[in-house]
Amino acid sequence: MASVPSLAATVHQRVVDALSAALPEAGSADPLLRRSDRADFQANGMLALAKKLQGNPRELAAKVVSHLPVAATSADPDPVIADIEVSGPGFLNITIADSAITATLAARAADDRLGVPFAQAPGTTVIDYAQPNVAKEMHVGHLRSAVIGDAVVRILEFAGEKVVRRHHIGDWGTQFGMLIQYLIEHPHELDHKDAASGQQAMSNLNRLYKAARALFDSDPEFKERSRRRVVDLQAGDEETIALWRKFVDESKIYFYSVFDKLDIEIHDPDVVGESGYNDMLAETCRLLEESGVAVRSEGALCVFFDDIKGPEGNPVPLIVQKSDGGFGYAATDLSAIRDRVQHLKADTLLYVVDARQSLHFKMVFETARRIGWLNDQVHAVQLAFGTVLGKDGKPFKTRAGETVRLEDLLDEATERAAAVVREKSEKLGLTEEDILERGAQLGVGAVKYADLSTSASRDYKFDLDQMVSLNGDTSVYLQYAYARIQSILRRAEEGQRTVAHPELPLTKAERALGLHLDQFGETLGEVAAGFEPHKLAGYLYQLASLYTTFYDQCPVLKAEGGPSQVENRLFLCDITARTLRQGMTLLGIRTPERL
Ligand code: ARG
Repeated sequence: MASVPSLAATVHQRVVDALSAALPEAGSADPLLRRSDRADFQANGMLALAKKLQGNPRELAAKVVSHLPVAATSADPDPVIADIEVSGPGFLNITIADSAITATLAARAADDRLGVPFAQAPGTTVIDYAQPNVAKEMHVGHLRSAVIGDAVVRILEFAGEKVVRRHHIGDWGTQFGMLIQYLIEHPHELDHKDAASGQQAMSNLNRLYKAARALFDSDPEFKERSRRRVVDLQAGDEETIALWRKFVDESKIYFYSVFDKLDIEIHDPDVVGESGYNDMLAETCRLLEESGVAVRSEGALCVFFDDIKGPEGNPVPLIVQKSDGGFGYAATDLSAIRDRVQHLKADTLLYVVDARQSLHFKMVFETARRIGWLNDQVHAVQLAFGTVLGKDGKPFKTRAGETVRLEDLLDEATERAAAVVREKSEKLGLTEEDILERGAQLGVGAVKYADLSTSASRDYKFDLDQMVSLNGDTSVYLQYAYARIQSILRRAEEGQRTVAHPELPLTKAERALGLHLDQFGETLGEVAAGFEPHKLAGYLYQLASLYTTFYDQCPVLKAEGGPSQVENRLFLCDITARTLRQGMTLLGIRTPERL
């Protein structure tokens, strides 16, 4: 495995070297190299430099050019830079040699990782994602957390990071007093079924939850009995715990069935819900109080912040322990931070959680910083995601105004995608079983891609018609591009091999495709550093678009330039397919071989 420097990195280095040879007084100035439409790359750094040195930018640029040997001026030209010229007010326009493009891609193709380097200083990240709540239906917000989290896990692991997954499910809290109490008083509510399917498990829990809630809200005595049941639960009373576990187990059957449909792997040991931190809560509070980070206020243990105020200007504290002694969400999250930092040895804590919880995390992180659990070596980031909206631009609901059931939504996506496959694949003679399997890969992929292709922090509209469309920025478009390439590679005859030929000149479309392929590693580096899967989606969409242009303009198996051009084009097809598949895999999306 060898990482391959990108052409952009090589050119950057060449220009930096030329710059310091031509203008030693410039120090280490950044040439500000960018991809450009005019040439392959453009460097704009001469303008700022000229200002600094009080020189003429065009003259400075010309000096730099004189230190870069190109074929037109030198007997020993640079193998990477074919041409460099000064343009406009003092830009450098740089053209890469065709041979360098093909040779770099060949080096990438020879590597399992397509030449993508590992992160320079990998560490340990604990990522908190896919955290639904026990006895409650999962909603689209849980889908976002699972989909984004799964992609981030894959991307970080590919970069060499050690990743520990934590599914912080909501399996504790006062609502369990209510649920357990209800079950004690209506003992047959969870018996009359055997929870064969996740769907059944959920509809039973759902019904029970609603009934318990209604009673809780309307009957003060039931409310009181529920409250006492919470105390029993916290005290570890055996009967109470047994019933609590029943709720958790039923819910897990349901969660796993949904994650399975989503094609996301969740492992039981990584499911450490709120209850997993019970034993740490009292100690967490003691540490916070003794250090003075938290103070008693009207009996509650609170942390105050100068910049967090309510509408009337009164301070809004983070309540770590309520005045009745109960611990809440914040105490649990602070305990989880201690566990993740001190036991799991994390240096990065990631939370893939709805933006509506941003204030909570801001306060929790600041508290942890004040007491030293977070510091310069260990930092925490909430990867806050926006709301999923319906076509009407309002939070996504059914027509009846209820939250949309995740499973229905995935089923519908799958059905629609199957219809697309059915229509397109008549020629392929696919069996009904194939069509359904591909429908699931396309449908679920489409839902994931729609979620991953906009920046996580933004709200996005859930529009199935658009998502499964063959045209535009959809996973289906990417999957068809991949399958089309596979079909070309299958059609290549015996004698038609896949071989890179750096000696061949490239067409415009080949160059554009090649230069973009070369950017894969750098793009992934950025995506991993900023936890930004949408940038990978954007890269892949552009890759598929550039491939489409190449495919439209450059015959592959019947290339006009003879057998070596056929081989070189097959090579371009192959590395495009491998890059697409690797990128899609990192997003958690399947790439069927035939469509
Ligand atoms: N279960 C919570 C919810 O559904 C999300 C948990 C987020 N993670 C955390 N450590 N608080 O809203």
